[in-house]
Amino acid sequence: MKRIQRWMIALLAAVSLNVTAQDAKMKTFIDALMKKMTLEEKIGQLNLPGSGDIVTGQAGNSDIAKKIEQGKVGGLFNIKSVAKIKEVQRLAVEKSRLKIPLIFGMDVIHGYETVFPIPLGLSCTWDMGLIERSAQIAAREASADGICWTFSPMVDIARDPRWGRIAEGSGEDPYLGSQIAKAMVRGYQGNDLKQNHTIMACVKHYALYGAAEAGRDYNTTDMSHQRMYNEYLPPYKAAVDAGVGSVMASFNEVDGVPATANKWLMTDVLRKQWGFKGFVVTDYTGINEMIEHGIGDLQTVSARALMAGIDMDMVGEGILTTTQKSLKEGKVTLAQIDAACRRILEAKYKLGLFDDPYRYCDENRAKTEIFTDAHRKEARSIAAQSFVLLKNQGNILPLKKSGTIALVGPLADNKENMPGTWSVAANFSKATSVLTGLKEVLGDKAKVLYAKGSNLDADAAFEERAGMFGKALGRDNRPAADIIAEAVSIASQADVVVAALGESAEMSGESSSRTSIEIPEVQRDLLKALLKTGKPVVLVLFAGRPMALKWENENVPAILNVWFGGSEAGYAVADVLFGDVNPSGKLSTTFPQNVGQVPIFYNHKNTGRPLEEGKWFSKFRSNYLDVSNDPLYPFGYGLSYTNFSYSDIKLSSTSLKGNQTLTASVIVTNTGSKDGKEVVQLYIRDIVGSVTRPVKELKGFQKIELKAGEAKTISFNITTNDLKFYNYDLKYDWEPGDFLIMIGGNSKEVKSGKVNWMK
Ligand code: BGC
Repeated sequence: MKRIQRWMIALLAAVSLNVTAQDAKMKTFIDALMKKMTLEEKIGQLNLPGSGDIVTGQAGNSDIAKKIEQGKVGGLFNIKSVAKIKEVQRLAVEKSRLKIPLIFGMDVIHGYETVFPIPLGLSCTWDMGLIERSAQIAAREASADGICWTFSPMVDIARDPRWGRIAEGSGEDPYLGSQIAKAMVRGYQGNDLKQNHTIMACVKHYALYGAAEAGRDYNTTDMSHQRMYNEYLPPYKAAVDAGVGSVMASFNEVDGVPATANKWLMTDVLRKQWGFKGFVVTDYTGINEMIEHGIGDLQTVSARALMAGIDMDMVGEGILTTTQKSLKEGKVTLAQIDAACRRILEAKYKLGLFDDPYRYCDENRAKTEIFTDAHRKEARSIAAQSFVLLKNQGNILPLKKSGTIALVGPLADNKENMPGTWSVAANFSKATSVLTGLKEVLGDKAKVLYAKGSNLDADAAFEERAGMFGKALGRDNRPAADIIAEAVSIASQADVVVAALGESAEMSGESSSRTSIEIPEVQRDLLKALLKTGKPVVLVLFAGRPMALKWENENVPAILNVWFGGSEAGYAVADVLFGDVNPSGKLSTTFPQNVGQVPIFYNHKNTGRPLEEGKWFSKFRSNYLDVSNDPLYPFGYGLSYTNFSYSDIKLSSTSLKGNQTLTASVIVTNTGSKDGKEVVQLYIRDIVGSVTRPVKELKGFQKIELKAGEAKTISFNITTNDLKFYNYDLKYDWEPGDFLIMIGGNSKEVKSGKVNWMK
């Protein structure tokens, strides 16, 4: 044993020596380079202009090309293809004075050409291996096409489904969000950034962007530091702990100062408290927007951003155009410019761009490693695992592969919307529609009839806004009643009706907030008409956010929430509908009964007047007159084609001290007739604290697989680390006392036991 320990210590020492040796080598290289750089060239490294001319055509004589040659550009983003990237890199390494390579970024958010489910959907897999793998494949494809830096993961905690960008994150929970943040960083970066199939990650949007007031994008956020530290900051910190190479500043203000100029956020918390060593980029024109925020003119806001800790200016060129003047006037320091420049150069060094600026420009890889059959196969399987079965009355699902199926709905025969929002590199024509997926999976075993049944929305102008970026659904200009009648006529010839309804891809995402989070009325009219036929109806719901589905839950027998499943969504929908894959997704965000309950989240505080469990209303209690406090579907919820039962909780001890470990276990039994996967969730409530504590907090989970009839004991080991939180003085520690330990298949239905834990 001793010998192994000594050997381990020697190994760790060797690794850390090697790291220090590498760091020293990098420092020597960058010191030497920076000695040669003029002030203008240093500032140039901080510039990340928009790549307009290059995206649309030739780099050659464009304005950007000239700037690259003059050393006024540090990197570019969202340019697709090795050929274009090579051409631009050549300008930097052949025509600029110091031949410093450019860094090429892109919004590779949930896959490159092989597109995975939108992040909100991915998070519902609760499977860190799959999530990491999706990022790994995204990195492999992006790096095969010239990209070495992605603006992902997006880890903004969001509790407001009105906010369109809830689609891009992992939901409402800081613990689950943190695990996912780490998995994504590992997936993109691997353990060596220099390898040509890994890329640098950028955690965003730092910070609190998901807490925009009223769910309106870019809106103000304002919250206590305690809420920040306990509920909103953990996923960003988790990404930093996982070694994320870069951070993106958010558009919103924090404590009255836009994040982009917030020194406390960018330097005190990020660098001093968390030890972040990479670089910080603004969001798109984030610096310029601070003029509108009302904190100064371009020179002032650029200087404030730089002095706050921003290293790279996306698109706006405020830093490029005003910093020399600010330096003369003493508004910025040379030390700060140097520090920012050094961090950008370090990123390029770590990516291996100084060794080979064309490291990510292998045309052969571009031809063979993108959108491969193997990647698509994995994407199909991951998509199926992101779907959440919300209702399945009378076990309508899975469907039989026989008879006649009527497929209807505006999202039934559409490829372009399947990848979902933020799929910049996707080739929409290669995505698979539900109609194609169903037909291919069924072959000649069953007949599929199709009719559109309704437009996305009655309002053509709204539909146009919801169909941007080449994702129009193709409007049917006949009267709504005629379009419905056609669907009803095929429904009456069928054994079962599958209605592919909900949101289009661009009804969520950036600047796509909604005040109504229901299915558009014209689609609900279609549903009503279909239900009237008396045929069994399955709602396949496309959504980029938790939707308000009270009516659907009351009236439609089966609801499968499929988010936006990516390029292979059509196949994955068929796989789940016909039972080739048993659904196992669990919600990462609470579904409200109506929009008036928002924000509604499972880890809320108790208040001084909580409503008694199981009650709907009580005067002078914290509740509503018109709707119960319950969500429609709670956090962690999701059905399967089989059933799982939970035994009572078993605790290894009910009275613990200090460093002891508590083991909490349950026996989970698959009581149904199909094999299936279940996410077993551990929650803890700190019953009494020096500050008020949430009614429960997720502290662990295990995704397990059980054969029909099989039972397994599932155990969680709990230590005082799991009890820690940031107290009033923002000290991270645990407090002795009583704790409720809960285990269940969702946040509402849990088995619990109490323990006392003293120091
Ligand atoms: C978004 C970012 C994105 C950036 C670059 C911004 O509008 O907020 O998430 O990375 O654009 O495309």
